[in-house]
Amino acid sequence: MTGPSDTVTELLANLERGESLPARWYTDPSIAERELARIFRKSWIYVGPLAHLANLGDYITGYAGGVPVVVVRGEAGLAGFVNVCRHRRHEVMQGRGNARMMMCGYHAWTYDLGGQLRRAPRSEGAADFRLEDFPLLPIRAEALGPLVFANLDQEALPVQHFFGPVLDIIAQAGIVLDELEPHSRAEGNSPANWKAMLENYLECYHCAVAHPGFSAAIDVRPDQYKYEARDWFSTQTGPVKRSALAGQGKAPPYDVTGAVGESQYHFLWPNLTISINPGFPNLSAELWIPDGPAVTKGFSDRFFGRGASEEFIRTMIAFNEQVAAEDDRLTDSVQRGLMGGLPDRGRFLPNAEPLVLDFQRKIIRAMVGKN
Ligand SMILES: [Fe+2]
Repeated sequence: MTGPSDTVTELLANLERGESLPARWYTDPSIAERELARIFRKSWIYVGPLAHLANLGDYITGYAGGVPVVVVRGEAGLAGFVNVCRHRRHEVMQGRGNARMMMCGYHAWTYDLGGQLRRAPRSEGAADFRLEDFPLLPIRAEALGPLVFANLDQEALPVQHFFGPVLDIIAQAGIVLDELEPHSRAEGNSPANWKAMLENYLECYHCAVAHPGFSAAIDVRPDQYKYEARDWFSTQTGPVKRSALAGQGKAPPYDVTGAVGESQYHFLWPNLTISINPGFPNLSAELWIPDGPAVTKGFSDRFFGRGASEEFIRTMIAFNEQVAAEDDRLTDSVQRGLMGGLPDRGRFLPNAEPLVLDFQRKIIRAMVGKN
């Protein structure tokens, strides 16, 4: 970092006083570059549902730290690769599906499920060319419950080490993880920095003001709505509103009765959130991918327990989309505020927004600390 006030000690001390990161951290392309290198290329990044990798040859694709990645179910289990052909660097696999071999759609260079190059048309007579010298580059790929992650850092500790306890907390909500089935993926772009969007996710200080439908379903009062920060993830829990269960007061926007009696909003470093709402078992895994400093590409993988009714699925998706639209309006506005650089620092309230403080602490340590 440059600038006299950007030492890690000073940034952290400012933070403990409730003074947020400088505006530039949300607008400067060099900061976004540094985040890719120091955060996204060294962390476990969600790729897709494990259920899509049930059979030999199943594959899913995604991005980790700006790098196209593919995870396949091979003979030896899950395997991850940089999804880029060793020839002209075209992406090898697209979307998701099942394949016996991974064939690049540009010149038909063909890799087996272990990533070895098996065929390169017209390469037979080429001097100094050996198929075995050009395998797909391997990366780490591991499952955590129903979710599959990839990591470009070969030295990383297992994903379980970072996020394992999240599965226990989710089970405590009344969700049987083995019975969750992937339903659909929704994708979208937002004109806001990924950190601004996650900082909004990480507090419910704004819920009563900005989310009337949400606040009719979930008890967002400070003595009921809880925050907990752990080393690599954080959790918000809010009980279902008793009045909503009893059919009193403002009607909640979907049927909140069911096995799940509370909402849980988990954040898994650096850019995955897992949202669970009260009612019939449901979970959505949301990935927030920076695309430069001022755009976030996101997607949400929706899961439901076995036997969810069409009506519940439809109304739950509508509920989540309503909250997301309300949040987007907030974070779009925050980004416009940040772009001008004035005021340079925000002042937040650590008691009301403890997970925002925790998140910024993690960001500072990753960005300014030793490699
Ligand atoms: Fe919100």
